[in-house]
Amino acid sequence: MTGFRSLKLSLRFIIPLVVSLGLLAIAVVPLVDKLNLRWFVRDMDMRSQLIANTLHEPLAELIGQGNKTKINSLLLRAIKDERLLALGFCSDEGALLYRTPTFPKSISCEEVPSDSKASSRILRLPEGAVHVARHHIVPETGAKGDLILVHDTSFMERRSADTRKYIILLFVVLGLVTSLITVFVAHLSWHGWMEGVRAMLKGEGLLKPFSPQSINSELQPLVGDLKTLMRSLDAERRMADDSTITWSPDTLRKLLHKQLTGEKIIVVSNREPYIHSNNNGEIEVHRPASGLVTAVEPVMRACSGTWIAHGGGSADRETVDAHDRVMVPPDKPEYNLRRIWLTEEEEKGYYYGFSNEGFWPLCHIAHVRPVFRTSDWEQYVKINQRFADAVVTEADSDNPVVLVQDYHFALLPGMIRTLLPKATIITFWHIPWPNPESFGICPWREELLKGMLGSTILGFHTPYHCKNFLETVDRYLETRIEHESSTISRRGQLTMVESYPISIQWPPPWHGALPPVEQTRAEILTELGLPADQLLGIGIDRMDYTKGILERFNAVERMLELHPELVGRFSFIQIAAPSRSALEEYQAFETRLYALEKRINARFTRDGRAAIILKAEHHEPDQVNRFYRAAQVCMVTSLHDGMNLVAKEYVAARDDEQGVLVLSQFTGAANELYEALVVNPYHVEQTAEALYQGLIMPEYEQQERMRSMRAQVRDFNVYRWAGRMLLDAARVRQREKLAARIGRVP
Ligand code: G6P
Repeated sequence: MTGFRSLKLSLRFIIPLVVSLGLLAIAVVPLVDKLNLRWFVRDMDMRSQLIANTLHEPLAELIGQGNKTKINSLLLRAIKDERLLALGFCSDEGALLYRTPTFPKSISCEEVPSDSKASSRILRLPEGAVHVARHHIVPETGAKGDLILVHDTSFMERRSADTRKYIILLFVVLGLVTSLITVFVAHLSWHGWMEGVRAMLKGEGLLKPFSPQSINSELQPLVGDLKTLMRSLDAERRMADDSTITWSPDTLRKLLHKQLTGEKIIVVSNREPYIHSNNNGEIEVHRPASGLVTAVEPVMRACSGTWIAHGGGSADRETVDAHDRVMVPPDKPEYNLRRIWLTEEEEKGYYYGFSNEGFWPLCHIAHVRPVFRTSDWEQYVKINQRFADAVVTEADSDNPVVLVQDYHFALLPGMIRTLLPKATIITFWHIPWPNPESFGICPWREELLKGMLGSTILGFHTPYHCKNFLETVDRYLETRIEHESSTISRRGQLTMVESYPISIQWPPPWHGALPPVEQTRAEILTELGLPADQLLGIGIDRMDYTKGILERFNAVERMLELHPELVGRFSFIQIAAPSRSALEEYQAFETRLYALEKRINARFTRDGRAAIILKAEHHEPDQVNRFYRAAQVCMVTSLHDGMNLVAKEYVAARDDEQGVLVLSQFTGAANELYEALVVNPYHVEQTAEALYQGLIMPEYEQQERMRSMRAQVRDFNVYRWAGRMLLDAARVRQREKLAARIGRVP
């Protein structure tokens, strides 16, 4: 088939080549003929001149003597030369006085060239063509006249015919040789082009960089165009997908069914979505304060499958089956939760130590130094391997779709790749990725990066984090990075690094089922013992030094200093869910926070109305939602945050289109929620001013800002986040399948 195609391609060159060679031959042959004749005539002229010069003197003498016999014998002797056919002598009066017997009868003295310009000419006689030349002879006495020299030119015709033959032969040989070379080159080029285009289809250059061996040099100028074309097609398809799809649980389910042929999804995270705990003999279930869980849980409910996580609840072991599985959500089971058990020592090393004393501060530039211990690292490696083994147990095929979550599992993608080489591994990094210098202080930086590059797709919240990651890999690993397509290739493994801003479910779970905002606000104010017209601010976070809670309190204090009329009229509620409290850094933070709250409240409490209400305890999502709805302003002042879903949850909670969001510029959310009052949390006055502006903002402005932010969160919801990753994964799988098929074509 390939041979036939390359022959067809060759014919496209050969046919015009043969035609032009033929035309050239037709034009060249008469030209060469003419040239030949001219050369022959010149030769004959010279020859005639030579003979005439030799004969001139004796002939003039004999004519002067009038010795006819001697003249005839002189002429006869002269024509012994094989080319000289005949000689004659014409008098000036035009009479042929002497001639050899061979002198053609058809030539008369008149026909002999006599003009001054040409002294010879070719005459076509019935016997054949002859060259006739004349030479004027003036004897001292006797008749003056011309010596006529007749040369046989039949050899000229023979030679011309030979030349013609050779020229035609030359053109035929030329045609044949060029055709053969053309067929050969066309065959090679066709092969090379096919290889190149095939490499393109396999995803090189788009999904992975072009390898110089796979693209032959003639195709190089086209590579840029092909890549641009492929990418724009991909982007167009993506845009079309994104703009035409309204992302919902249903879309996600259909996508899985259509694009991933109903593949079972396996999610791996450290934090589990439902924690069972034992409260004095009673088993309770609660949802942890975790952005990761907030985002991934609705996706899991839509897709079903298995979620593998650490079983950290005090009643977790009591609630699983023999395979450590439990169906969740407890009130409407939709997917499997597979729990992994850790000993205290393992949890200390892997979770508290390496993940939260090392990785967490390493990735968050929040002025807390990371600590790296070899013992923690060893536990981290061990637990990553345990989760990898669990993935193999839970997978029901050799190419499952695995969604690896967050910094607890940097090594996991590489480990899964070793155990299940055909798996589609989507890793999502929920926290920021630092610059190469900051990351470089980690003693196991190469191992961590190699582990992450086991992923098929590696997702971050923002393009900036992707860029940091690519630069980090570039700095510390031997890889090939294709910046245009954001792809890293290492030892034949390709990883696409892409930004997928995470979000929350839309519509929110309580949609349409809640009492009006005014009612909730009134209830909350009563619960807190505050008057009905008290202004409220809200902050919802884990008790974590990256969240900028101290900075937020400082801003509240400054705002009250600058606007004393609000003292006693405004309270800021801070919900701080206890988090990682076994760690010294977190304990110290909590102590500082309480101290600051105490100091501010001592200054600004009026008639029992505190400036800051600190609730350092866990709140379930529905309780949190009530606070969102009650507060006039929500403050998100993280010092560094991958996305921050509190910002989006606040927006989703406000179906009354009221409320103001004060948002740190150092959150991923600030890239999307432009209508928030964006602040630098390190700048106390700026943050204080934003809080004040939020409290006095007219309703219509609140509505405009909130409406726009709600549209953003609605359209860019968590189903879109997951959907885009799964779509990309489906494309990679399709491309791999296609590449495998093409690879088999001989
Ligand atoms: C961040 C991390 C999550 C983590 C959450 C809560 O959002 O990205 O992976 O689950 O914090 O932290 P915790 O240590 O309590 O799970």
